[in-house]
Amino acid sequence: MAENFIIDQDKSKSEQYAEALLQLEFLVDGEPNLIANISNVMAALKYGFHFFWVGVYFVNQDELILGPFQGPVACTRIKKGRGVCGTAWKERKTLLVPNVDEFPGHISCSSASKSEIVIPVFDSNNEVKLILDVDSEELNAFDADDKKGLEAIAVLISKLLS
Ligand code: SME
Repeated sequence: MAENFIIDQDKSKSEQYAEALLQLEFLVDGEPNLIANISNVMAALKYGFHFFWVGVYFVNQDELILGPFQGPVACTRIKKGRGVCGTAWKERKTLLVPNVDEFPGHISCSSASKSEIVIPVFDSNNEVKLILDVDSEELNAFDADDKKGLEAIAVLISKLLS
């Protein structure tokens, strides 16, 4: 596994995500444990991209349960269809929320969070197994480059599931 994770802040966002993906592949290489790998991926993303909050929620029956994350303490359980995470799960698609106050039913785990992006992670049967959630303290922090980059990271996480 890689011992450090460095993202060149002077590069474009899409280059940063490409660099991140390569390093994340090294980070998880050779380790079969899902929680260990997801924990390290979350730490790498938090300290590589300086996100306010980054973490996963696992699908468990009719709700999501908090998994490995980096950032302030968060809500532990979210019902299907509730909040941004529960809606991304229900609709099986990435949700980019420029202003959380304008998202009906947004669940505020921290009043400091202003925008977020939520990406579903699918297993080999095309079922949503977990949700990747990234929050920012700034409005409108995420764009199409983040969507593309984080969806590629979601594919990497989905490969860890098998
Ligand atoms: N805001 C999310 C809840 C999770 S936290 O932001 C960590 C939502 O509305 O689903």
